Amino acid sequence: MSFTQSLQTLSLGATNVTVPALGIGTWAWGDRLFWSYGKEYGGPEVQAAFEAALAGGVPFFDTAEVYGLGESERLLGRFMQATEQPVQIATKYFPLPWRWSADAVAEAVTHSLERLQISTIDLYQVHMPFDFFMSKRTLMQALAREVEQGRVRAIGVSNYSAQQMREVHQYLAECGIPLAVNQVQYSLLARQIESNGVMATARELGVTILAYSPLAQGLLTGKYTPDQAVTLSGARRLDPRFNEVGLRKIAPVLTILQKLAIAHDRTPAQVALNWLIAQGNVIPIPGAKTASQARQNVGALGWSLTPEEVAELDVVSLPWK
Ligand SMILES: NC(=O)c1ccc[n+]([C@@H]2O[C@H](COP(=O)([O-])OP(=O)(O)OC[C@H]3O[C@@H](n4cnc5c(N)ncnc54)[C@H](OP(=O)(O)O)[C@@H]3O)[C@@H](O)[C@H]2O)c1
Repeated sequence: MSFTQSLQTLSLGATNVTVPALGIGTWAWGDRLFWSYGKEYGGPEVQAAFEAALAGGVPFFDTAEVYGLGESERLLGRFMQATEQPVQIATKYFPLPWRWSADAVAEAVTHSLERLQISTIDLYQVHMPFDFFMSKRTLMQALAREVEQGRVRAIGVSNYSAQQMREVHQYLAECGIPLAVNQVQYSLLARQIESNGVMATARELGVTILAYSPLAQGLLTGKYTPDQAVTLSGARRLDPRFNEVGLRKIAPVLTILQKLAIAHDRTPAQVALNWLIAQGNVIPIPGAKTASQARQNVGALGWSLTPEEVAELDVVSLPWK
């Protein structure tokens, strides 16, 4: 049987786990609090998004045990059962207060595997650097055991600073396991990792950056404009980046994105994602709620902005660095 090949691939850090150069984020799959799942979209739409990503050669999805209180993992599990195409999953462990012993890590992995209906997780990430209840060393040793047992193929962290990344990289190295990724916010409108040491440290340690909110939660698609009243749903109603003042501020970035989109016969979202890929060592994981969003986001692969175009976007987005 032949499946669509991934368009571009990357290794996760120094591991032998190779994934497409872009993944699809699934926070919105099953989440009713932030994303209003079940109102404007639901199961059929996100299943169509899953299928469109596979058809486009990107069978790689980022989820977390807390997304939709397990519903995102459950949906992915169901969708994977309905296809023979190999799928790669990145999920996350949440450092909850009652998780204070290494056994809690094994239990969390077991539950994620059950919801996903798989026997191995390609990438298991720590959702945030909260180590009040369990030290980083204990946590990393527990995760290393999961790799040794074959339930997890690669270990990552998320929202870790340069210093925190260095620490856990060392603890894992003591167990003979590389730190594969640090998943952090990164987009044309959130470039802090370029100045706070995270990007430089990731390069030095050979850790891949997974870029979350790479479309600034939809702002970089160009569909929100100050002159056009768009009904905002969920948490975006309270986010000042989406009000008129916020939208006027990002207009210069959108103007360049639109110009480059026309030049390449692409969309602003695809250009914004392509800029991230052009940084090297960066895998964007844009969210997609529908087949058309998934198709469009997958279309960020298979072509490249010129170095001059990348530089033009660098300059216009300097205020967000
Ligand atoms: N580790 C962490 O702490 C963390 C935090 C946040 C996110 N994440 C991960 O990163 C993923 C992506 O981040 P995100 O969802 O915050 O932001 P994002 O990818 O920047 O934006 C996703 C949203 O933008 C809209 N959209 C996406 N593609 C589009 C397209 N082609 N055309 C028009 N609209 C489009 C959709 O919302 P509408 O249709 O409603 O506009 C979609 O839900 C998440 O799913 C999750 O896996 C991780």
